[in-house]
Parts: sequence; C-alpha cells; structure tokens
Amino acid sequence: MVDSEERWTDGIARTSERQSTLSGVSPQGQSRADRPEPAPDGPRGEFAEVSRRATGAQETARANRGWWDEQAADYYGEHGAFLGDVDLCWGPEGLREATARLLGDCTGQDVLEIGGGAGQGGRFLASEGARVCSTDLSEQMVRVGAAINARTGVTLPLLTCDAQALPFADASFDVVFTAYGALPFVADSAGVLREAARVLRPGGRLVFSTTHPIRWAFPDVPGEAGLTATSSYFDRSPYVELDGAGRVLYAEHHRTIGDRVREIVAAGLRLVDLVEPPWPDDHEQEWGGWSPLRGRLLPGTAVFCCVKD
Ligand SMILES: C[S@@+](CC[C@H](N)C(=O)[O-])C[C@H]1O[C@@H](n2cnc3c(N)ncnc32)[C@H](O)[C@@H]1O
Repeated sequence: MVDSEERWTDGIARTSERQSTLSGVSPQGQSRADRPEPAPDGPRGEFAEVSRRATGAQETARANRGWWDEQAADYYGEHGAFLGDVDLCWGPEGLREATARLLGDCTGQDVLEIGGGAGQGGRFLASEGARVCSTDLSEQMVRVGAAINARTGVTLPLLTCDAQALPFADASFDVVFTAYGALPFVADSAGVLREAARVLRPGGRLVFSTTHPIRWAFPDVPGEAGLTATSSYFDRSPYVELDGAGRVLYAEHHRTIGDRVREIVAAGLRLVDLVEPPWPDDHEQEWGGWSPLRGRLLPGTAVFCCVKD
C-alpha cells in the first residue's frame, strides 16, 4: 500500500498473495496447442512462443504479476499520454467518463478501482470528490501511480492486491470499477465478479470494460489481417505467452458475451447496460490491435454496467 487508507479494510490483511495484462500487443490466435501446465517453479525465462492452452488461476496470476511488473514503465511511456494522469478512459476508442457518465455521480461516495494500473481513472473520480482506493496486482504499476500522485498533487491510496481476493470488508463501497483491469487477465473472472459484489453495498454499481469478446475470433493485429476471422469465438482456451521451458509468461482469458452475462448474474448483480463504444471518426491513434481500420467495422471494447440490488 503506497498511501495509507484504513477506512475500508476493517482489519483485513491488505496485500494478497493468493493469486495472480490490456497489453495491446498480443497476437491472439497465432498458434494453438493443448499442453498440460508445466511445473510452476523456476525463474521466468525469455519469451519463446504463443499458444492457446489451459492455465489455471495461480499460474495465470503469477505470470501476469511478473509481466505487468516488467512492463509497467513501458506501458505508461506508451499509453500514459492517451490515458491522461487524471482521467478515466474506458478503452482504446477513447470513451471518457467525463462524457460517458457510466458511474453516475460519485461525489462523496466510496469507490474501489480494481486492476487500476497507475490509478488514472481513480484519480479522476477523486478529483470529482469521491473517496477512492485504487488497487492493482502489480507492485510496479502501483509505483508508477505513486509517482503520478506526487507529480500531479491529486493523490489517492494505492494498494497492491489481486482482484480475485479483495482485502476489504463486505459492503464497503458504493462503486467498483475498472477500465480493462483484472477481468481480461484472470482465469476466475466469475470469482472477481463475486468479490466485487461482496464489497459493494446494496444499490452499489459495478462497471468494467474489457476486450469485446468478438475480437477473440480475429488475429489481434491492427491491419487487414485483423479483419478475417481465424479462430472460433467459442474457443475459451486462454491465450498464453510461454518461455522456452513452457512456463507461462503472460495470459489472457476469453469469455463470450453469454459467459459474461451468466457470471454477472451468478454474482448476484443485475446487468443494466452493455456499452460498445464506436470508433470516433477523428480518432487515428492505434493501440495494439485496436485501430481505426478495425474499430470502424468491429467493436473493440465492451463496457458492462451492473447494479447490486
Ligand atoms: C491494461 S492494464 C489496465 C490498467 C488501467 N486500468 C488502465 O486503464 O491503464 C491491466 C491491469 O490489470 C492488472 N491485473 C491483471 N491481473 C490482475 C488481477 N488478478 N488482479 C488485479 N489486477 C490485475 C494488471 O496488473 C494491469 O495493471
């Protein structure tokens, strides 16, 4: 935890080691192989290949924590200006909370950001008068956030934890949100939704954005090759990057639209909107496989808006 904040934790341990990236660089679907999980021990090796094969919650979490720790500075260097230090951007289409208002009025509310990276979205809500705690799996992403806190003077508590095991008491928050954090990267996305529902108060709101599921049928590249479906939309095998020993270095997990809806309902939440941001005519900036060419033809982001009744 970088800035001290005790109000929500109620004596619960703050850093979870229990389990476990939008890298925008993942060539989804380049190759497929079904292999058993390798022995989890041993240091991360160099990237060797990509695959589609099973990987469990622990292996995924360990891999993605290492990947995001390694990538934190580069991710901020590449995407920080587009995201803004005090701004909530829902995805590469550039939909911003300042105009979309998917979270409602958060003034005076207790807000939790999960998979918040450097906390830009949380910082935006804090600047609007919310009491925000931003969390992320990666210590290094949180450290980038601490540097932004210091530079901007818009400070918020930043905490390292896994969204699959939130170290907060039940019914602690009015709003839980994430822009592309945690959900695309966890094996147990249903568990993340259960955790979000648990820490929400009745009447609270969960809003999360993620890669639009249809993108999993297409190569994750910005050009023409990204317009032809080459994989089954229904294939839930995770996308993994492996080292030479077969250790997972990075993983993303696919859920169809139906899967997402079922997981939301199973968590005791009610889906009130599913926003598919269109690609703006004047927006030319690519982000990995998200490009003007593809964005004008296919949805790239899905934003799920849920309520806990
Ligand atoms: C694409 S970044 C999004 C960060 C931020 N929301 C943004 O818009 O820049 C994905 C983030 O999810 C985090 N993440 C991945 N798995 C997670 C998990 N199991 N629990 C919490 N955060 C996780 C990564 O560490 C990373 O910071």
